[in-house]
Amino acid sequence: AMISPASAQPEGYNYDESKVPDYELPEVLKTEAGKTVETAEQWTNQRRPEVLRLFEQHVFGRVPEKLTTIRTRVRSRNDDAVGGKAIRREITVFFTADDDGPSMDILLYTPKSATKAVPCFLGYNFHGNHSIDPDPAIHITESWVRNDKDRGNIDHKATEASRGKSSSRWPVEMIVSRGYGLATIYYGDVDPDTDDGFKNGIHAVTEADRGDAERAGDAGGSISAWSLGLSHALDVLTQDSLVDGDRVAVFGHSRLGKTSLWAGATDPRFAMVISNDSGCGGAALARRRFGETVKRINTSFPHWFCKNHRQYNDNEDAMPVDHHMLMALMAPRPVYVASAQEDTWADPRGEMLSLYHAGPVYALFGRKGLPTAEMPDVNKPIHTDVGYHIRTGKHDVTDFDWTQYMNFADQHLK
Ligand code: GCU
Repeated sequence: AMISPASAQPEGYNYDESKVPDYELPEVLKTEAGKTVETAEQWTNQRRPEVLRLFEQHVFGRVPEKLTTIRTRVRSRNDDAVGGKAIRREITVFFTADDDGPSMDILLYTPKSATKAVPCFLGYNFHGNHSIDPDPAIHITESWVRNDKDRGNIDHKATEASRGKSSSRWPVEMIVSRGYGLATIYYGDVDPDTDDGFKNGIHAVTEADRGDAERAGDAGGSISAWSLGLSHALDVLTQDSLVDGDRVAVFGHSRLGKTSLWAGATDPRFAMVISNDSGCGGAALARRRFGETVKRINTSFPHWFCKNHRQYNDNEDAMPVDHHMLMALMAPRPVYVASAQEDTWADPRGEMLSLYHAGPVYALFGRKGLPTAEMPDVNKPIHTDVGYHIRTGKHDVTDFDWTQYMNFADQHLK
């Protein structure tokens, strides 16, 4: 279930900085054989593959092989969308040769005024493409949705009532006005977010060993399946003449921020990676046990990570990685981590610290990480070759967040 603002601080978890236990982070620059990494080449050729494999084995599980059966079809097109500022398309990506089989719809906006292929943000949405903008021409998702009276989601089907309900998180006009494309996909198209034994969505195509019990300890959970969907979406964007596939930033909020980080780690073609309030299992350091913990996340959402991750329930210090090493997998690409002051469940300080501790890997490439391990003032972004901010307010995506992402992207993608 989604945590409502009223229960944003579940009881029984630590929200007190003075009670964070002592911990020692695994050394990002020390290979498994005990050698210290001193050059960018050693990082790229030796240590990075090790770290990636550790995350596959102990955290997210493997991302399934790319599908070879992908087909696309433009489902709708409006050359006069967003008050005449954008071209809006819906592109269906079929995962198999069967039109009635699993598929995802990419909702893609590109600025009409663009004279060449544009840099683009790509990110999943929580409630269907039709929820990001009230435009009545956007198809209502036919995929499984969580029942929700406020959104008119009944019997796991979305209805007209949910059109535009998430538009505050998707400032389409602002994005295209600044010269960026925006591509979004309902994450439930790729894998319905429920512990259902990996039978549907893209898993219906990728799984040989269905069911939790028979799966390998490092078989990818839903976050890996969602990452695969993003890689396929990047393939589609790369082939699109209006989008520059070499300048795609992968973005996500919360569980979808965990996903954007894992997609950025596993698919180095993403030119920039953005984590909005991703928290536990995303940007936050697991060993701090501040807010959500490994045990809690594996219990509430047993389908997100791989089975091996459960070994670290109440046992974080035994993990061969921590999440600063996930951030390091983005290097030397620009990565942005954002937190919200009231979002203590996601551990803002832990999100910032993991980015800080990835700094030595950026330094190998002559890039600058965060200058200090101190929290910056609220609403005062720090932009070096990485970006961080903590804004006032709750667990959400706001215009403030998007403004910073675009300011940062102006430096790195234009
Ligand atoms: C829950 C979960 C978080 C997750 C969040 C979200 O709060 O515990 O890990 O990030 O849902 O996706 O909104």
